[in-house]
Amino acid sequence: MNTATPDDETTTAAGEGWSEDMELAPVHPSDREREDTGEERQGERLQKVLARAGVGSRRVSEDLIEAGRISVNGAQVRVQGMRVDPAVDKIAVDGVRIEIRDDRVTYAMNKPPGVITAMSDDRNRPTVGDMVGDLAKGLTHVGRLDQDTEGLLLLTNDGELAHRLAHPSYEVRKTYLAQVSGSVPRDLARRLRAGVQLDDGPVKVDAFRVVDTHAGQSVVEVVLHEGRKHIVRRLLAHVGLPVSRLTRTAIGPIELRAMRSGTIRKLSRAEVGAIEELVGL
Ligand code: URA
Repeated sequence: MNTATPDDETTTAAGEGWSEDMELAPVHPSDREREDTGEERQGERLQKVLARAGVGSRRVSEDLIEAGRISVNGAQVRVQGMRVDPAVDKIAVDGVRIEIRDDRVTYAMNKPPGVITAMSDDRNRPTVGDMVGDLAKGLTHVGRLDQDTEGLLLLTNDGELAHRLAHPSYEVRKTYLAQVSGSVPRDLARRLRAGVQLDDGPVKVDAFRVVDTHAGQSVVEVVLHEGRKHIVRRLLAHVGLPVSRLTRTAIGPIELRAMRSGTIRKLSRAEVGAIEELVGL
């Protein structure tokens, strides 16, 4: 299986030439004029932004909105759920503008095989930490990929987001492409969806399909929301399909797509919004 992909302008080699300008295109001026009810806006919910700025909990922030004490760009807000862009919109409580600093950032990496999922290593093995360099303060990887596994790895300095994405209770689906030896029995998808018993307990997949079979090798796609160590390799070995190459292609709605091996890109606001939504943030 070759997951190498053509050049893609949205990806940048780690380290050198890194550019921060990979966010969504700015709003068209005519959109701005239409959007001031807040309903059609992109961005974060006002009460969430207020809570993050330390104005009060989300509940308290909602009460302040209800009481008409919050304004956005000089206009009093009365409706809940208005979307704002804290980088652009002027938000005030009782007429006093609040300062909103947001240095949270999330990146996607196409981890190459051979690199360990750690920010540093005392045995001097190559790490994802070496690849990100000093891109942003306090970055940590979200979950892990085995040293031999390649593909999508998220890195963030948002502790709560990292915790939720990696925690099994949030059941975030991850998609893998595996190259396996042998041909795939016809009833395998059904068996895997029903669940099989591994040494450390049962495991079920959310979806399974054969992508390609050729010369005694198959490429299969597995979707599951498990985080146990070596889970895909162990699961497929257990059903007689040892894995020779494993690539993670998606985490929830975030897809690897055309990212070249070893490249890193900043997630767009819309992508961060989508994964936050997924884990209830
Ligand atoms: N399952 C594995 O076997 N390895 C990984 O790196 C991730 C999931």
